[in-house]
Amino acid sequence: MTPDIKPIVAGNWKMNGSCGSESMVRELVAGFDQQLQGKLDMAIFPPAILMALVASWTKGSAIAVGTQDCHANESGAHTGDTAAEMIASADGTMVLTGHSERRVDHNESDADVAAKSEAAWRAGLVSVICIGELEAQRRSGETLDVLGKQLAGSVPGGATSANTIVAYEPVWAIGTGLVPEASDVEEAHAFIRKTLVERFGDEGAKMRILYGGSVKPGNAGELMAINNVDGALVGGASLKSADFLGICEAYRTMA
Ligand code: 13P
Repeated sequence: MTPDIKPIVAGNWKMNGSCGSESMVRELVAGFDQQLQGKLDMAIFPPAILMALVASWTKGSAIAVGTQDCHANESGAHTGDTAAEMIASADGTMVLTGHSERRVDHNESDADVAAKSEAAWRAGLVSVICIGELEAQRRSGETLDVLGKQLAGSVPGGATSANTIVAYEPVWAIGTGLVPEASDVEEAHAFIRKTLVERFGDEGAKMRILYGGSVKPGNAGELMAINNVDGALVGGASLKSADFLGICEAYRTMA
């Protein structure tokens, strides 16, 4: 937690879900009650083809929706891609950029991530910019160097606390059930905060920094209480409403 920053719990469905996911989404809408809404924001990131449908199911609720990627350009000959403007026109308000699975599967560089993040802003969307070290980098003590390089290359100069969220996801913790020690999470988040403040001043101090990687209802309370952890980016446990709401419950009793 960071004093005066409202946390956000975000669900990254990855390549999961279908046009039949309505009941699960409606359970989220019903479970995200007034008290929880006062404590945290909630967002879900379904696959692009489902996003407009999910937005129709959440319409009128406090749940934001977005996609897991966007193209840097507004339109044109880019088969299979989605422009940020299309996401906005389908009632999306956010987009994930630079997720490690996109960096690996699609060879996305920090420069690509920065261009996509700027495209999101161009369309009025919030960029959730993802960074994180590989297991080998953690083992060889390079974590903070890697994070510093990714922040410098992936977060464009125009970042503000309103248009940008940073998500720290140690790659080795994604989908593995492995979670770093609380002290390691605290160290990484403190480093990210310091770097953002150096670059963006007061805006950097107010930017939300999420932790992602094997967040579950059982560990959310401990992780979300760590300094500078302003919410969670959740993969597997965002696919069942009870699990996702269980993670949100960590905030119900927090001051
Ligand atoms: P898991 O929660 O399944 O580890 O995934 C984390 C993630 O990659 C969210 O973007």
